[in-house]
Amino acid sequence: MQIKTLGDEMKTRPDVDYLFKPRAVAVIGASHNSAKIGYRIVENMVQRGYKGEIYPINPHGGEILGLKVYPNLAEVEGDVDVVVITIPARYVFDAVKECAAKRVKHLLIITSGFSEVGNAEEERKIVAYAREHGMRVLGPNIFGLYSAAASLDATFGPGGILPGRVAIITQSGALGIAMIGKTAAESLGLSALVSIGNKSDIDESELLEYLARDEATKVILMYIEGVKHGDRLVDTLKQVTRKKHVVVIKSGRSQRGAMAAASHTGSLAGADNIFDSIMRQCGVLRAESVQEAFNWARFLADAPIPSGKESVIITNGGGIGVLATDACEKYGVDLYDDQQVLKDTFSDVMPDFGSSKNPVDLTGQATAQDYERSLEAMLSNPDMHAALALYCETALFDTEEFAALLKREYARYKEKKPVVFSLFGGEKVEEIVRELRKEGVPVFSDVYDAVSCLGAMYRSWIKMRQPSGGAEEVEIDVAAVEEILDRARDEKRGFLLANEAQEMAKVLGLSMPESIMARNLDEAVRAAEKIGYPVVMKVVSKDIIHKSDAGGVALDLLNRDEVVDAYQAIMRSCRAYKKDALIQGVEVVEMAKAGVETIIGARQDGSFGPIVMFGLGGIYVEVMKDVAFRAAPLSRREANDMIADIRSYPLLLGVRGEKRKEIDGIIDVATKLGALIDKCRDITDIEINPLVVYEHGHGVKAVDVRILFKTTREVR
Ligand code: ACO
Repeated sequence: MQIKTLGDEMKTRPDVDYLFKPRAVAVIGASHNSAKIGYRIVENMVQRGYKGEIYPINPHGGEILGLKVYPNLAEVEGDVDVVVITIPARYVFDAVKECAAKRVKHLLIITSGFSEVGNAEEERKIVAYAREHGMRVLGPNIFGLYSAAASLDATFGPGGILPGRVAIITQSGALGIAMIGKTAAESLGLSALVSIGNKSDIDESELLEYLARDEATKVILMYIEGVKHGDRLVDTLKQVTRKKHVVVIKSGRSQRGAMAAASHTGSLAGADNIFDSIMRQCGVLRAESVQEAFNWARFLADAPIPSGKESVIITNGGGIGVLATDACEKYGVDLYDDQQVLKDTFSDVMPDFGSSKNPVDLTGQATAQDYERSLEAMLSNPDMHAALALYCETALFDTEEFAALLKREYARYKEKKPVVFSLFGGEKVEEIVRELRKEGVPVFSDVYDAVSCLGAMYRSWIKMRQPSGGAEEVEIDVAAVEEILDRARDEKRGFLLANEAQEMAKVLGLSMPESIMARNLDEAVRAAEKIGYPVVMKVVSKDIIHKSDAGGVALDLLNRDEVVDAYQAIMRSCRAYKKDALIQGVEVVEMAKAGVETIIGARQDGSFGPIVMFGLGGIYVEVMKDVAFRAAPLSRREANDMIADIRSYPLLLGVRGEKRKEIDGIIDVATKLGALIDKCRDITDIEINPLVVYEHGHGVKAVDVRILFKTTREVR
């Protein structure tokens, strides 16, 4: 059977659609030997009931599973959209040439032995040739692809994939194959499963774009080891998460894990906290473990979009209710709190000694009917948006009856409101949990697992409701920036001197303490008197980058005498530090008033491209590593979220009677740095340390601005 109509979108985006809905698939390396990968792939295609034509290719001819085997691709008469290549690496390039002659659209290169083992040259050669001849490459080093849209299982996995609403993209082959078995065991249906291996050509971003358009897909689950074209991935994810839930598992969280991931895939895993922050920015749900990712994917695939954020916990045990409340706080799940409405809704369905406060405690005497009535009462109240029903095994309660009730209630309400269950008890209860899960009921033994699903749903829901649109355009006078950089480049410098940093701050509209450049002692004294005491004095020399190390900085100078002494001391120490240093003079700077010291920076990240970083200064950033990141350019809302991400954020909101700090001022600086690092890609690092933040209404001050850039202009 042929799949003919692929819709109008195909005209504009033919590429990846053909990968998921091919009309015919050939397997180069189809084997007669049932122990080989080339046999297994043909077998999976046949068993899954692929709707298009299957052409096994093998020089020995004959038949495999009743299909005619062609000695080479040229002898196949019909068109072939996808070719699976499963022959040893040294023969792959010739096979790719055969595919080009046959005008194939996509190559699935299963074969290992390319960039992941240092053979990057051969991989590049294959991809370049394929692209020149209008073909796209998935892999190499993959286990294949499954697409429910075409009933195609072109993997060498264990088979038995159920069709459904979850799409999996995986960089790890072995884990991906194991996931096939796991999805089957958990009855998790898939719309697609793609192994991306070395991602030499097609990468996550392109696959995500397709899956975002694929109506069958509701949740996308990704396993990532390293990010290659991070800026493109960020743009794509921001779009995709408006429509679909995206769950990511990224290995390399720990230092050792990152090293293992780097050697495993040949691509460096980006620093983990950058990845974490940027995924949050994109509205992606990052799971801690494969099991958590599965739990979320399973729940989100069936859960309706909630109409609000208020949840209700119904329980037969006080203790487990409290645990659930803790879990709600941890995962950001809000609990419905109108006590009168709770009382009116639940007082009829509980004994006098129960509690209608949320958690609603039906007590250990609760019967299945009590649960049924309270669930009905909750689910029909439009102000209560999601339910968490908890059950602790009791001697009085018929657990089997309860299981039947859960199934019934879940089936009735699953289209209307998100409901999740947690059942805790002995072997009998565990068995029921397993059975219900197989039937697709979102039930867990551990209450934290149940609440974590609700938390994930709300995080994704918040992202979907946010107004669309990217970062507001921040005006940057790029020509003026480049002019300052060029002057430094003329002196073969890749960093700015203090007076140049001042100029840059002016171009960006950053508020800095007043500063005057002084070429000698007289000028230094005059500058200090003009600015007003106290002042700071810093050496200006292109030969001294680390001014403090050279004794080139004096703080808190209170009068003329101190300025004179400091000037002489600075000159002495700097000469001693570097005898032949050319000293242009000193910078006399207004001593900034005390405020909250923060650090804000931007740089070109190896994985994600331009990024912005924010943290509180001093020990918060150095010891506690309390920093957050965002991909640039960033909107004011994204900048605000970045600031709110740090653990010490309450200090900016004002603690112990202190006033709220000038958060808007930090947002201004963050969006400006984001725009600058995005527009001027030759700038490699910007750091404002400290950015002193005053009380709301009193602004912020960039006390020290450092900028590093490439000494030759590369990007124009
Ligand atoms: N055209 C058509 N068929 C060919 C050609 C050709 N040019 N060359 C060889 N063949 C046939 C062979 O005759 C053989 O068929 P036969 O068994 O009927 O004789 C078949 O193709 C396979 O060739 P072999 O030389 O037997 O290769 P083998 O199957 O041992 O290995 C493979 C090929 C599987 C691609 C291997 O080189 C490889 O890369 N293995 C690793 C695959 C992998 O793990 N990928 C990553 C997955 S993810 C993960 O981590 C699990």
